[in-house]
Amino acid sequence: MFESKSGVFFIAGLFFFVFAFLSNALVPILMYQHLPEQTALEVVNANARYQFEDLAQRYPEQFKQHIGTPPEDLQEADKWYDEQCAEMLKLGRDIYVGEGCWHCHSQFVRPVSNEEERWGPVSRSEEYQNELQRPVLFGTRRVGPDLCREGGRRSNDWHAVHFFKPESLSQGSPMPEYPWFFDGTPDKPNARGLAIMTYIQWLGSWQQSYPYYEAYVPSALQAPVAADETDAAE
Ligand code: HEC
Repeated sequence: MFESKSGVFFIAGLFFFVFAFLSNALVPILMYQHLPEQTALEVVNANARYQFEDLAQRYPEQFKQHIGTPPEDLQEADKWYDEQCAEMLKLGRDIYVGEGCWHCHSQFVRPVSNEEERWGPVSRSEEYQNELQRPVLFGTRRVGPDLCREGGRRSNDWHAVHFFKPESLSQGSPMPEYPWFFDGTPDKPNARGLAIMTYIQWLGSWQQSYPYYEAYVPSALQAPVAADETDAAE
C-alpha cells in the first residue's frame, strides 16, 4: 500500500482531513468555548443604535406605527431604544433567513484571495458567538457581495430604495425586488423593511472601524487623477 501512488494519496488525504478538522473545528472550539454566547440585546452597540435612531428620524410615521413611541424620560428612552433595536435585529435575522438572502450573500470574509482588500478585516470566530448567528449565516454562494461588513456602508434610504427595486440603483442587478418590505412606496418601510435595514446596518457595527469603507485606502488605479494630469491628458 505504501509503495503505490494511490496509497500515498490515500494517506495524505486522511492526514489533511484530520489536520483540517483539528485546525478548523477543534482549535476554535477550544479557544472560544469559555466565551458566553451573547444575546441580541448584548450585541446592540452605539453604531447599531445610531442607525436605528436614524430610521426613527427618517421614517417617523412608519417607525411609530410599526415599532412605537419612545418614553419621554431620557433614561427610559435609552433603554427602550436598545430593547426595540434588539427585537428588530432578531426579526431582521429571521427575514434574512426566510427570504433566502443567504443563497446569494455570504457573511464571512475569508483569509484568501485578498478578500480583505474588498470587504474588510478577515472574519474572526468570536464574531459568531451570539444569538443572531444561530444558525451561522456564513453562506456558500456569492451571487452578490459579502455582507458581514456592510453596516454603515450605505445610508438607510439607499437600502430602502435598493430593497424596493435593486435595479434602480444597480443596473442589471439580479437581486429580487422586495416590495413586501414596504407599504407601497420605498419611503414607507413596514415592520419587515425596518427590521431588515436594522439588521443590515448592524452587520460589522462591532468592528473598530465602522463604517469600514471609510478606512479603505484606494489602490493606485482607483486614486483620483490629479488636476495637472488631467490637463496634460487633454
Ligand atoms: C438572486 C441573488 C440575490 C438575493 C436572493 C439577494 N441578493 Fe442582495 N445582492 C445581490 C447582488 C447581485 C447584489 C449586487 C448588485 C446590487 O447592488 O443590486 C446585491 C446587493 C445587495 C446589497 C448592497 C451591497 C452593497 O453595499 O453594494 C445588500 C445590502 C443586499 N444585497 C442585501 C440583500 C438582502 C438583505 C437580501 C434578502 C432580503 C438579498 N440581498 C437577497 C444578489 C442577491
